[in-house]
Amino acid sequence: MNTTNRIWDYKSTETQNLEYEKLYKRFWHFGAHKSELANNKDYVIFKIYDFEVVLYNDSGNIICFYNVCPHRGARLMSDDYDCLTKGNGNILCKYHHWGFSNNKLHIPNKDEFSHCKDIDLFRLKTAYCGDFVFFSHNPQMDLQAQLGDFYNEIQTISHSINQCININDKTKFKSNWKIGIENSAEPYHLNAVHPNSLAPLNMQSTHIFCDMNSKVSGSIANEKYYKKLKRNKDLFNLSNYYEEAYFSYYLFPFIILSSTFGYSYSVQTFFPNTPQNTHFTCRSYGVHSDLNIDAWNEGVIKMNKQIFDEDSIPTKLVQDASLLSDMQLVYAKNEENRILHFHKNYNHYMGL
Ligand code: FES
Ligand SMILES: [Fe+2]
Repeated sequence: MNTTNRIWDYKSTETQNLEYEKLYKRFWHFGAHKSELANNKDYVIFKIYDFEVVLYNDSGNIICFYNVCPHRGARLMSDDYDCLTKGNGNILCKYHHWGFSNNKLHIPNKDEFSHCKDIDLFRLKTAYCGDFVFFSHNPQMDLQAQLGDFYNEIQTISHSINQCININDKTKFKSNWKIGIENSAEPYHLNAVHPNSLAPLNMQSTHIFCDMNSKVSGSIANEKYYKKLKRNKDLFNLSNYYEEAYFSYYLFPFIILSSTFGYSYSVQTFFPNTPQNTHFTCRSYGVHSDLNIDAWNEGVIKMNKQIFDEDSIPTKLVQDASLLSDMQLVYAKNEENRILHFHKNYNHYMGL
């Protein structure tokens, strides 16, 4: 394979291994909103490749670690959550009862391990943008530099959110993670793929580029929907982030953060699994309001599920085809220019 064409390589393990080294290990990845980990022992689990990462509230301190016991490698935390969006429980390995709390490992028969120095969980680093928690294996830059000029907006957005209202990990993207990102980065498919959900808004898109990240801001040209959305402003707190548009950030490499008018948010993580499969999760967030907006939030959950079910169909069609390295794809000049921006940055950070 010609290495400059790796961006279209949706199948090889060789490219996936390089992405793991250059993208997964070196960048910050969105984990959760702080409200999801508000109580002692709250935790959430993320599936990435063939492993799991845990964010955990250890007596008020949010820690991050691979879901592996440092003794003999047993899985530590279960994703069999009681609640729909998170787990709550001790870090206690079922195999030989190694445990962890208050920033310390607790080891039965500890004396027998006196030859082992500095035993700890397999930790990752954490960083905050407002109330959003990010994690990284070994970041090549700090989070603020990675989010660049979008940092302040995203921080304000995080402060507008009060709770996670749903986690959708049921929609299956049976395609390479890059196909999911490329699909999210262009509005050209809306009429064909979302005829009844997004297309009726008749969005007029403006694109903003900021280092490796980008944003689309789509003003709602359908007068009826625009007026309806605008009227709903009274439902939400005035101090919330507000933008009269459908807007969506692509945060390199695996994250999309979207909203309509700032009335709710969805964060979609396209974490790689195999070259031909994505660990897709959509976290829907509600925003601060003094009113009862449960019905609004229910509508948001339903709409998000519909949109991503719709997106999972064409992305699989791309995966199912076989693109030869000398086939040249064609892009719509304006509507798909965020994909080309993604390609450029992908090649740069992959060292191609
Ligand atoms: S494998 Fe976890 S305590 Fe032994
Ligand atoms: Fe879509």
